[in-house]
Amino acid sequence: MKLLSTLFIAVLLAACSGSGSQQKENATEAGELNVYSTRHYEADKLLHEKFTNETGIKINLVRAGADELLSRLEIEGENSPADVFITVDAMKLNRAKEKGLLQAVNAQTSNPSKFVEEENYWYAIAYRARVIAYDKDDVDVSELTTYEDLADEKWAGKILIRSSGSSYNQSLLSSIIHANGPDAAKEWAAGIVKNMAREPKGGDRDQIKAIASGVGEVAIVNTYYVGLLLNSDNEEEVNAGKKVGIYFPNQDGRGGHINIGGIGVAKNAPNKENAIKFIEFLTNEESQKFYASNSYEYPVNSNVGPDPSIAAWGEFKIDNLDYAKKTDLNEEAIKIFEEVGWN
Ligand SMILES: [Fe+2]
Repeated sequence: MKLLSTLFIAVLLAACSGSGSQQKENATEAGELNVYSTRHYEADKLLHEKFTNETGIKINLVRAGADELLSRLEIEGENSPADVFITVDAMKLNRAKEKGLLQAVNAQTSNPSKFVEEENYWYAIAYRARVIAYDKDDVDVSELTTYEDLADEKWAGKILIRSSGSSYNQSLLSSIIHANGPDAAKEWAAGIVKNMAREPKGGDRDQIKAIASGVGEVAIVNTYYVGLLLNSDNEEEVNAGKKVGIYFPNQDGRGGHINIGGIGVAKNAPNKENAIKFIEFLTNEESQKFYASNSYEYPVNSNVGPDPSIAAWGEFKIDNLDYAKKTDLNEEAIKIFEEVGWN
């Protein structure tokens, strides 16, 4: 009887001690991980499943755009069930840190220092370069040099690039503002608009397909989309991928622009230990090989190389991520896009 009443009190105490919302109580169940992610790739889905199989930790995924997830984290505050925030842009990761939405953690990874936030607020899990894809039949590669040069009138009617709503383009323009100043960046954006082969439409793969069908000659795209085309089951996509050469711009200067796919632990993560395990899992050699050969991104683990279809383009100099620490540049980039009429 004494044992029973002690048990009863213990249960009662446990029930009263939870002060967060119902949502938070559910989220703190043992063996779970609540992932807020912008990434929409099959590779991620398969890796999440593998993580669950290996650890028994169940993943609850919330998928949305970066700004939406950041607002959600802010609104949820202390009651947020989120354990990790994953996105594909260093600026957004830094913004999450600035807003106090992340916490520094010590994860054991083989990431080189450039792929870990300087105070350990986030870890890169993969990266992709924003490069120039060109029509191998019509463009003499010796004509290509820099992103800046694509604004020259010699490219009139030849440039293909997606809309300015893309965070990839916002980041690229931010890096150009950082490198050359706002006036030069605006002039560049206006020059690109003038040289466009058509109004921006579709994703990066559509720009490459447009080269294949003769709409334009030069596109600014992320490398992994070319990898996805080259390794597609669809013959037409493979042919479009084969039609283009890949050129890494600005190699004599600051280097080519990259996007970082990265993960940070949420400030109020209910399952912090699981979150750290997840970071270590995503950056380990096996997962990095998996990313390389499924999403065709560049691995961040120095012991793993890119997929052969990507490695064939050779190595390249990377622009550093200093621009991404100045997160206000993102708004400045959006303003410039509006001013020059880049839809
Ligand atoms: Fe993408």
